This record gives sequence, structure tokens and C-alpha cells, in this order.
Amino acid sequence: MPRLIDNYERQIDYLRISITDRCNLRCTYCMPEEGITPLRHEDVLRYEEIVRLVGIGAGLGIRHLRLTGGEPLVRKGVVDLVRMLRQVPGIESISMTTNGVALAPIARALRDAGLSRVNVSLDTLRPERYAAITRRGRLEDALAGIEAALSVRLTPVKINMVVVKGVNDDEAVDFARLSLEQPWHVRFIEFMPLGQHAEQARRAYVSSDETRAQIETALGPLAPAEIVAHGPARTWRLPGAVGTIGFISALSEHFCQSCNRLRLTSDGKLVPCLFSDREYDLRGVLRAGADDEALDALWQEVIACKPDGHHLEGALTTTEHRMSQIGG
Ligand code: GTP
Ligand code: 5AD
Ligand code: SF4
Repeated sequence: MPRLIDNYERQIDYLRISITDRCNLRCTYCMPEEGITPLRHEDVLRYEEIVRLVGIGAGLGIRHLRLTGGEPLVRKGVVDLVRMLRQVPGIESISMTTNGVALAPIARALRDAGLSRVNVSLDTLRPERYAAITRRGRLEDALAGIEAALSVRLTPVKINMVVVKGVNDDEAVDFARLSLEQPWHVRFIEFMPLGQHAEQARRAYVSSDETRAQIETALGPLAPAEIVAHGPARTWRLPGAVGTIGFISALSEHFCQSCNRLRLTSDGKLVPCLFSDREYDLRGVLRAGADDEALDALWQEVIACKPDGHHLEGALTTTEHRMSQIGG
């Protein structure tokens, strides 16, 4: 079986695809109020182009896809894209990371098209705070999205909560409590210093250990748990809970040694690491008429330059990549 193995013996079988840099929200830790200048329409990969590139990746060992953004649900025809990707030989699962506000009406169609599951970003359970953090979202829409995902079985549904000091770190226990009664798989994410929000992230960083201590003091000890995943979260469970609690600790506990992924940006750059400025212009090569063999070789070149990991501890700023362009 074909396998993409990098120079550090990591097997690469997971591709995160940002299908648009646009978003219907303006979260304060991710985008400026006025938004960013969006890519020109013609610079964004067409669905047929994404499918062709995924076909090359699948031939080399990519098995799992995650659609991200911006917000993936703002791109027209996303259900068709899921259906097309589902037909690529070798692809075993397709999941999506979304803010959930536009999910409810489309959840069933996504499921029917072959989407496996969703992760939903939700940083607060308080309506006014949700409006303030997202600048234009309504909490009830995101909650309706989560409900819909559960009811059509886009499961396990994971909730992504980026812990930001002074903004929502007082809600960790409330989020954890939700996992007791409902199949909510809540993940607390350490705020990562990316692009123009790097300084903010360093000031407002809360370690997973601090969050965990708050939860255990209020609700008791966590026990290890297992859940379907292809990502870096470490997962735990409160005694008797239906759901789980995860921590994504990019800073306090490196997971680079087990990294299994590449990223494809909406304008067709293949990126070996979230924190590297290196990117390979697959779109240019594709549109210049490259055959499968040439694309194949380019994928292998990207793998060969995948770094051993990030070195964020000392650095003040990191990559210029914005989260909304690279999709987390
Ligand atoms: P599953 O485990 O398969 O459910 O997916 P996931 O947790 O990888 O996906 P999701 O998009 O929900 O990502 C959650 C958080 O983890 C986001 O903040 C991502 O930016 C972060 N993340 C995902 N992959 C990486 C990675 O390779 N490196 C780093 N540093 N952070 C990552
Ligand atoms: N650090 C950690 N997570 C982030 N996200 C966005 N920006 C950051 C950051 N700087 C999260 C979003 C979403 C996921 C794709 O990444 O909240 O859940
Ligand atoms: Fe992978 Fe880079 Fe993230 Fe480390 S920082 S886990 S190498 S993408």
C-alpha cells in the first residue's frame, strides 16, 4: 500500500483542506472587524481541482480529509464537494470544522452526501459574550447547528473552545459540565500565536494544565478516554459522563512527533506545517497542465521538507499565515 512517510518516520494520512478564506463571523482572535481582503474568485481552487489534487494525495496514502475555512459552509455547493470527495478511491473519512451557525439547515444533506462528522467552534455559552467574541454571530444559531449535527449523526460532535485569558477562561467548568449529560466532546485549545494575533495570544495564553486544574477542582478527577480522532487532542472523561473532555496543547505539550497531516489552502498551496512559512503552489503547477506524475513528485517534495516540529517557545512571532487562510 502506498505510504507517505516523512523524514522523521511520521506517516502522513490526513489532509486539512481550507475551501474558502471567507467567514460569516469575525472572531476577535482570528479576524479584524472589517474582515480581510478576500481572495479573487479565480484564485480559489475549483472543486474539480480540489478533487484532482485529493486523488493524487489518496494515491500516496492520504486517507482522511477535513474541510475547513474560513468557514467552509459559506462556500456555495459544499454538499456537492463532499459527494465528489467521497468518490475518490482510498478516502475513508471526510470531516469538517465549522462555526456551526449555518449548519442546521444543511446538516442532513451533508450527512447524506457522505460527511462523517463535524467539529464545531464554540468559545462561550453566554449569548452576549458570543456576540462580542464573534462580532456578528448568534449563540442560538451555533447551538442549533450542534443539535442538528447530533440528530443526523454527524458524530462524534466535538466542540472547540479556544481558552483566552480574561475573555472566556471563567467558563471552562461550564463547558466541562456539558459533557456529563450530553454526547458533547469538548476540547480546550491553547491559544496559538499565529499571524497578526501572535502578541494577543502570548498575553492571553492559558495552559491546558491550568484549565484542567480548574475542572478537576470543581468536578472531580478525569480518567483517560478514547474517541474517534485523527488530530492532536488528548482525551479524558469525568466519572459517569456521556461525553468527553479533550485538550489540544500545541504549546505546553508538543504533539509534533506524531503529526500526520498536510494542509491545502483555498488558493491551492500545499503547506507542510501550520507554523512554517513554506508553501508549494500546487494550483500554479496544476493550471500549467501538469500530469499526475509531476503532481505526485511535488507532493513528495512537500513531505520531504516537513519540519520536525515548531519551535515557538522562544519566538515572538511566527508565521504570517492567518488562521482564516490556513484553516487551523
Ligand atoms: P479530529 O481529531 O480528527 O477530530 O480533528 P482535529 O482536532 O485535528 O481538528 P480541528 O479542526 O477541530 O482542530 C482543533 C484545533 O487543533 C484547532 O485549533 C487546530 O488549529 C489545532 N490543530 C489541528 N491540527 C494541528 C496541528 O497539526 N498542529 C497544531 N499546532 N495545531 C493543530
Ligand atoms: N489558536 C488556537 N486555535 C485557534 N483557532 C482559531 N485561531 C486559533 C488560535 N490562534 C481554532 C478555531 C477553530 C479551529 C479551526 O481553530 O476556534 O475551532
Ligand atoms: Fe504538525 Fe507543525 Fe502542528 Fe507540529 S506544529 S503538529 S509539525 S503542523
